[in-house]
Amino acid sequence: MTTVSEFKPGLEGVPVTLSSISYVDGQKGILEYRGIGIEQLANQSTFLETSYLLIWGKLPTKDELVEFEHEIRYHRRIKYRIRDMMKCFPETGHPMDALQTSAAALGLFYSRRALDNPEYIREAVVRLIAKIPTMVAAFQLMRKGNDPVQPRDDLDYSANFLYMLNEREPDPIAARVFDICLTLHAEHTINASTFSAMVTASTLTDPYAVVASAVGTLAGPLHGGANEEVLTMLEEIGSVENVGPYVDHLIATKSKIMGFGHRVYKVKDPRATILQELGEQLFEKFGHDEYYEIALELERVVADRLGQKGIYPNVDFYSGLVYRKLNIPSDLFTPIFAIARVSGWLAHWKEQLTKNRIFRPTQIYTGSHNETYIPIHERNCAINLEGETL
Ligand code: SDX
Repeated sequence: MTTVSEFKPGLEGVPVTLSSISYVDGQKGILEYRGIGIEQLANQSTFLETSYLLIWGKLPTKDELVEFEHEIRYHRRIKYRIRDMMKCFPETGHPMDALQTSAAALGLFYSRRALDNPEYIREAVVRLIAKIPTMVAAFQLMRKGNDPVQPRDDLDYSANFLYMLNEREPDPIAARVFDICLTLHAEHTINASTFSAMVTASTLTDPYAVVASAVGTLAGPLHGGANEEVLTMLEEIGSVENVGPYVDHLIATKSKIMGFGHRVYKVKDPRATILQELGEQLFEKFGHDEYYEIALELERVVADRLGQKGIYPNVDFYSGLVYRKLNIPSDLFTPIFAIARVSGWLAHWKEQLTKNRIFRPTQIYTGSHNETYIPIHERNCAINLEGETL
């Protein structure tokens, strides 16, 4: 029997799988994908090469990479029925909800569940990595009343996404910075959305349902949704002088400071360090951002007040400033996180299938037993004039 002392809220420190995909040392601030440091991948790899590494467990040869990139290019388009469905979405709806619905809708078109067939696995991986950016960009244009832009086969993955979003070819530096952002967000051990993907995968449902459930989990403000909230917070703070009182108020009211803290990292997230450097590169090339000084002061004040608790910037803190400089609206920050993280989810989906057992944890029951059912007319409760129970 499980005892209360064995219960770990939020499953803190509880291993739920054996995995060789990525590794985090939260005390030293180390992140590796398949044993390779995130800094090396950010500097030298591309998002698609990194995705291949995560999903197939090794760096591709030149030919393998060319073939993978070619397949992704070929599958970027989405069916007109999916576009038509998206046209019916309310333009006020959040892009993460649009993405979750659209990702799930892919299952209507490619629903075969041949999970023991490597070709099916490959097709599903390619389709999801290829089509998710197209769906994010399509919703962005359609909610403005415009037709979506078709993908351009002569552009690489990240340049094509920025092109579909802004209807013009991006500056090569902007496209490279964006690609590094995707690499940084691609995978991060058993975070909430990956766990959600694994639980869904463990029922042997299709990969589109796996990704749709993970997108829904990523959306929350305690997880991927924090990047959007960070920008709202910087706007609210408004000036460097307001940072101290703002932080003190949040601490006094036991509120969370968005973009700070992490279940695993007790030092600054290594991805936040790289994102900050990317932001600085962009500010140098495309002009300064007034919020950067506020962000720097916020990092300093939070370290001063909460550093002893191990609360430092996480991946969501500086990413918004980078995306803002790339002219990306703030409610697309989390969908962009999803574009990147789909590779990690798929890597865990594939790994889960090799040793699957359905996730079915237990609970510690705290309710009563042997209660008696009371018919509704005998229940002692007040009823108002409209006949509603109070
Ligand atoms: C991501 O898990 C991953 O790997 C996720 C991720 C990935 O790549 O997949 O890295 C991406 O989700 C980053 C996190 C984005 N979320 C935020 O920025 C929201 C703000 N942060 C927090 O709410 C919080 O730090 C979490 C959700 C990230 C972690 O939550 P935990 O591990 O459950 O920690 P907790 O809420 O129990 O806090 C522990 C203590 C508390 O103090 P005490 O009650 O013990 O005195 O630390 C304090 C908290 O109050 N604390 C914070 C804080 N984060 C923790 N206090 C103020 N502001 C914060 N942000």
